[in-house]
Amino acid sequence: MSTRTAAASTGLASAATRIDTLVLIAAALLFILALAGLSKQTTALRGNTLGIVGMTAALIGTIFLALTLDSGNRVLSAALIALALIIGAAIGITWARRVEMTGMPELIAMLHSFVGLAAVLVGFNSFLTTPGAATETNAFHMGEVGLAVLIGAYTFTGSIVAYLKLSGRISGKPRALPGHNWVNLGLAVLAIAFIVVFGHTTGVRGGIGYLVIVAVAALALGINHIMAIGGGDMPVVVSMLNSYSGWAAAMAGFTLGNDLLIITGALVGSSGAYLSYVMCQAMNRSFVSVVLGGLGSGGGAPAAGGSGVAGEHTETTPDAVAAALWQAKRVIIAPGYGMAVAKAQFPVATLAERLRAHGVDVKFGIHPVAGRLPGHMNVLLAEAKVPYNIVLDLDEINDQFKDADVALVIGANDTVNPSAEDPGSPIAGMPVLKVWEAATCVVFKRSMSHAGYAGVQNPLFFKENTDMLLGDAKASVDAILAALPTK
Ligand code: TAP
Repeated sequence: MSTRTAAASTGLASAATRIDTLVLIAAALLFILALAGLSKQTTALRGNTLGIVGMTAALIGTIFLALTLDSGNRVLSAALIALALIIGAAIGITWARRVEMTGMPELIAMLHSFVGLAAVLVGFNSFLTTPGAATETNAFHMGEVGLAVLIGAYTFTGSIVAYLKLSGRISGKPRALPGHNWVNLGLAVLAIAFIVVFGHTTGVRGGIGYLVIVAVAALALGINHIMAIGGGDMPVVVSMLNSYSGWAAAMAGFTLGNDLLIITGALVGSSGAYLSYVMCQAMNRSFVSVVLGGLGSGGGAPAAGGSGVAGEHTETTPDAVAAALWQAKRVIIAPGYGMAVAKAQFPVATLAERLRAHGVDVKFGIHPVAGRLPGHMNVLLAEAKVPYNIVLDLDEINDQFKDADVALVIGANDTVNPSAEDPGSPIAGMPVLKVWEAATCVVFKRSMSHAGYAGVQNPLFFKENTDMLLGDAKASVDAILAALPTK
């Protein structure tokens, strides 16, 4: 190669690297803007779009980077990346199309397991390709590899157990070995000790055995830890694993020297940790008690009738509810998991629209943990095109129930349970929607024989101003719509 051609080639390579850096910085900024957008309903769509654009830029940047690398077979690299993208996209699109909103937590759990597995594979690959020498810099690199394998392996098996519990493929009951917290502590100490030993070894032969021990201890830790947590706490666990999958990706970013992966991993890690904290607050659970396991219900399938309170309930009919709504001035709708199960959001949106057209002030009150994943109700109502300005959070709506003529509780139970105000109740201290303060409260539910997710009986059903409308929520709302006067 002539000197001039070599110089031109070096210039091109450095220009390509600069363009690539710019693309990756743009992707990182887009991810931050996406998170900011996702914090409010009104900007969530924009946030999602920015995230998609950021991910597309990140993919293009990464492929470009792989193609400008001097080493290896570039054509083979491009072909392998294209193949991985096609397979991944085909599986992702098929799965995303099939999944029901109620199955979202288990899908997310499964996706986290892939991030964990990827971090383990990146860690092993990074060590096998650059086993390194006994220098301080290398010890740091080996530490990153060890941590990527530790967090990744734990996230991998932990997420698979969470998926199996959420999808009902294994029992949601907590299954703990005797002294399981000590077993977990032992496994964690073993893994960390071997990362330290691993960091001081040189050559593949010396280190690979230690890295395998770290991986096996972390895989066992993931299984043992999450098996001991009840299905009732799985959504918090999924959010916690989301955070861990972010940290595993950040560690993989360190081992690969990929800044974008470090930034993205840290964003996922910190937002997942914060979400876990917010969920625990909304359920009045301590995060430590959730992660130490052994608590939580049997997977959202509580004992028939729940515990404690019982009494006489009053049943009503769709015609009577339609008449009460038509005469009301203010109506507040509190949706819950049952609305998602019944897919009742569309008739509920139509009901709100009809009542508003008649001059009734209709609002929705959303509990932060209504349903089975954060923002579950908001997503359903947005899907049904309910205007954002009438969808209020618990803090905004709770003072307004006392002025409401009718409160409609559509498939909600724990989130409207007044026994949360009783210090002796298992859900004591959980903030709840005060639907019972409305003049009349109508509860939509299929039968009286099941308690809510927490397995606690609900005294709301037996209050004097509460009427039960038993049956599938969608069928009930459809019947109310049919009974509303046409003019
Ligand atoms: P739940 O307490 O789960 O109660 C759901 C209610 O819907 C039940 O009364 C059920 O009674 C009724 N239902 C089910 N299918 C129905 C259908 N087709 N038609 C009519 N009613 C139906 O709901 P919630 O108030 O939304 O509370 C959520 C629970 O999940 C809380 O305990 C919360 O702590 C927990 N949780 C939530 C999250 C997040 S982030 N959202 C995370 C972890 C835990 P029937 O079976 O008799 O119909």
